Amino acid sequence: MNINITAVDYDGLIPNNVGLGQDLRVKHALEKWHPGYINWWNDMGPEGFQESLVYLRTAISVDPKGWAKFDYVRMPEYRWGVLLAPQHEGRKIPFGMHKGEDAWQEVPGEYRAMLRRLIVIQGDTEPASVEQQRYLGKTAPSLYDMRNLFQVNVEEGRHLWAMVYLLQKYFGTDGREEAEALLQRRSGHADTPRMLGAFNEKTPDWLSFFMFTYFTDRDGKMQLEALAQSGFDPLSRTCRFMLTEEAHHMFVGETGISRIIQRTCELMKEHKTDDVRAIGAIDLPTMQKYLNFHFSVSLDLFGQEASTNAANYYTQGVKGRFLETRIDDDHLLTGAAYEIETVEDGRIVKKSVPALQALNERLRQDYIDDCARGVLRWNKMIEKAGIAFEMKLPHRGFDRRIGGFAGARVSPDGRVLSEAEWKANESKWLPTSEDRAYVTSLMGPAVIEPGKFANWIAPPARGINGQPGDFEYVRFN
Ligand SMILES: [Fe+2]
Ligand SMILES: [Fe+2]
Repeated sequence: MNINITAVDYDGLIPNNVGLGQDLRVKHALEKWHPGYINWWNDMGPEGFQESLVYLRTAISVDPKGWAKFDYVRMPEYRWGVLLAPQHEGRKIPFGMHKGEDAWQEVPGEYRAMLRRLIVIQGDTEPASVEQQRYLGKTAPSLYDMRNLFQVNVEEGRHLWAMVYLLQKYFGTDGREEAEALLQRRSGHADTPRMLGAFNEKTPDWLSFFMFTYFTDRDGKMQLEALAQSGFDPLSRTCRFMLTEEAHHMFVGETGISRIIQRTCELMKEHKTDDVRAIGAIDLPTMQKYLNFHFSVSLDLFGQEASTNAANYYTQGVKGRFLETRIDDDHLLTGAAYEIETVEDGRIVKKSVPALQALNERLRQDYIDDCARGVLRWNKMIEKAGIAFEMKLPHRGFDRRIGGFAGARVSPDGRVLSEAEWKANESKWLPTSEDRAYVTSLMGPAVIEPGKFANWIAPPARGINGQPGDFEYVRFN
């Protein structure tokens, strides 16, 4: 397979490898959108740090061998660009009724509305998380963590650019309107909220931030993986490059949580106590409750277990499965079945449904498997520290708002409960206002001395881009 690496044009206002210099219509549309974006960033981006110099990576290439450079940047001056992964010449659509046909370089008229909707939903999540994380810089547990937060934020901004490019380039007037609307909605706003539930929740503290980047960014990963299989080649290429950046967001989440666990275990051993709150750390049961919350709101993002929309997306070639090309089946799924779980008459039952309709559930299962790997690593650390505690993913039916489990009361170990049983136990399973107040109380003013960390979190094993432990990741003016 031939791979075309188009050089990145880094000179104009918008760094890109999509030939914007020759595509004046789209270039002008993006330049017109740009001031609104900067206004949004100034209003809704990291509060109080817009003038700071942050040691950020910027994508300057899409070559997997070296695509980023690191330097001090003021966030509003970050080079948000439009970067697509290299085009694979001769790429074929890998699934659905168009399987084996050439991938589309333009939007097929009959799939226009469907593709636009998928792009808008993905696009909406990107600025939403920046809005959710807006105040966290003020309580960063170290310069290292502050820098990682801002890195995630600017890259979510770039992901918005990526989706807006597709809208402007391929969807005409309605694409332009959608691009504007992406700057108008606000996370958690009563009248103009973001489109998906988890992106309207608050991210009020750093434990929530790490849980969000571990669990909710991972939903993003799965959606991008499914869209990277799309028959619409520009969408596929866009998502493939976004996945390169997304990996860092989940790294931030996984290592953030493991550093808190590490610190908690150290203090438990040092002080020979389970009551680490008395010494200013986050106890493991509280971490488990936060995990339960973030996991279940993220599971909701995958939608209904059985969905005709999901079937249509697949059959029509616009959204595939996780690792579609590595699955050994017919990639049509017309006669196949898939087993889902749902609640009927107060019991969890297994039900066989057409595999095509169960694609949301299948992606959710891939997601659960992916989540479980990090939990295993956290548990190894706890075990190594000689502490008898095991972190667990709750049952998929626990505290759900969407799908067959919505409305049912399911315990973390997968039993359907009465309302009274739920009420009696809820405070053991989900963060209470007291838990949240305790975690909030640990979020002191940002720790800004290079190499220093808040008491409740261990330093990372290594620095960003090989930098030493006391590196000055953020410089203040
Ligand atoms: Fe993203
Ligand atoms: Fe992300």
